[in-house]
Amino acid sequence: MCGIFGCISKQPQNLIKKTLEGLKILEYRGYDSAGIAYITQSKLKVIKQIGGLEQLIKKVKNQPDTTICIGHTRWATNGAVSVENSHPHLSIDGTIAVVHNGIIENYQDCRKQLETKGIKLRTPVDTEIIPNILCYTYNNKHNIHKYLKGQYVFCAVNYKKQSLFIAKKGNLPLYIGQDQQVIYITSDTLALPNSVTQIISMNNLETCEINGSKISFFYLNRPIKKQWQPFNQSFTSSNKNGFSTYMEKEINEIPSITQQIIFQYTNNNNLLKLRQKFQQDLKNTKCIHLCACGTSYHAALILANIIETNLHIRAIAHISSELSETTLLDEPSLAIVISQSGETADTLNCIDILDTKQIPIIALCNITTSTIAKRSKYTFPLLCGPEIAVASTKAFYAAVLVGYLLFNSKTTISSSNLIRNITTTLKISRHLLHIPTQLPNKIFIIGKGINYYLALEAALKIKEVTYLHCEGYPANELKHGPLSMVDNKTLAIAFGTDTANAIAEITARGGKVITIPTPTPSSQLSSISQIIPIQIFALDLALSLGYNPDKPRNLAKSVTVL
Ligand code: F6R
Repeated sequence: MCGIFGCISKQPQNLIKKTLEGLKILEYRGYDSAGIAYITQSKLKVIKQIGGLEQLIKKVKNQPDTTICIGHTRWATNGAVSVENSHPHLSIDGTIAVVHNGIIENYQDCRKQLETKGIKLRTPVDTEIIPNILCYTYNNKHNIHKYLKGQYVFCAVNYKKQSLFIAKKGNLPLYIGQDQQVIYITSDTLALPNSVTQIISMNNLETCEINGSKISFFYLNRPIKKQWQPFNQSFTSSNKNGFSTYMEKEINEIPSITQQIIFQYTNNNNLLKLRQKFQQDLKNTKCIHLCACGTSYHAALILANIIETNLHIRAIAHISSELSETTLLDEPSLAIVISQSGETADTLNCIDILDTKQIPIIALCNITTSTIAKRSKYTFPLLCGPEIAVASTKAFYAAVLVGYLLFNSKTTISSSNLIRNITTTLKISRHLLHIPTQLPNKIFIIGKGINYYLALEAALKIKEVTYLHCEGYPANELKHGPLSMVDNKTLAIAFGTDTANAIAEITARGGKVITIPTPTPSSQLSSISQIIPIQIFALDLALSLGYNPDKPRNLAKSVTVL
């Protein structure tokens, strides 16, 4: 995971401020620690701090004008969370600083080689070998991919050359953007300022060197030309719109997103053409494999159910990391990958497997410039705008809605009824589920059919932001085992009208049950809005326990490690 942001300009200016602003938006990628490195007149200065970006900002007392600044937000994979292990990492001579995302698999070998040259590293972190091999072992840095194993992107500042060097191997994202005065490096285009008009995406095995305003690209040591792509970003993603958390803001966006998705998917010519193409692709398909992780996997489960019910085509939802070379994918198949970020490593790994079996891949993805979108035959956008809170809420709803529209080409859909329904659900959510005065020691969420998949998603949301144990369960399955856990400290939340037996079994054992009413008129789609009260409940419970729901501990938004 981790977020990389950097700026370089010909004339000195406040690039530290720009870097901190970029990092603020990238913080969703990791918030164990953060750091920056910038060039002063006499040296390369590094400031780093554990905790979120706010902690780093407190430590950055001065913001002198500079021509290069790079920054990093860390989600620790290799080495504990500490100031020393945070990025940027410096070469032993202090002239090269590196921020890095990914894993260097052969770092122990590299470390040994450096030791034979008398270079003793200070930390156990794989990143620290990069500035040192750049400093001590390399004449030609563009050859670096031959030397380093693993998937990585990194950005190095060279004090002596007053330049930036960037390298990318594998699927991790890295973009370069430019406006009139500054060239930016970022893990996500979302962090680029609105002044940026052009971007370039770094590809596998490329390197890049930037000196002032001069940029040169290389593919495995061979100079290459890359074209700038037009870029236009007009929203302000950092705006919570009056809500105290991104999570609440994003849940409250669900009605307007619904309207937007239905309108675009039924009126926008490009999307209508794409839908026709999809209908062609569906024609000879005997089986649809849906692949995703976490919340997106729960959307996949719901969509597999919808596909089988509506299209009578076999549909299997796979947890991306569980799909393997031995999974049976023989029939004429189609794959649908679902991802909010479009950068999830487990799902990209799945794409590698699907590619070897020559199965066409279609993405449902929120970030249409992402690696998953690029690697798919075509992409249906989720159109839900940036999702900043780590716990996915609106993107879940958007993925189900977009999928529903694709698998119901013959049905007309009344957006006004649906939006009314969702808006009412949003309004009554806090009346349905109150924060319990006594904290339950376990929570079960039960449902049948699609409602069971909703229960899985609801349980994930509660676990993620409240750290309480919560399980989603098929209602009738409870009596086959987990009922033994139910006592008078158990809270159960039930979806649907068909869970009466399970409810009776829980209450008979002292458990408290809250039923979420089925929206009327009831339909495959309207039932999905039942997730909203649980999303709000998870959010309120997290806040009442003193946790930040936007940044649950140990997690990051974009999971780019296997
Ligand atoms: C849960 C959550 C994660 C993601 C999962 C897949 O709230 O956000 O479970 O759903 O990491 O991420 P994407 O959809 O970006 O592939």
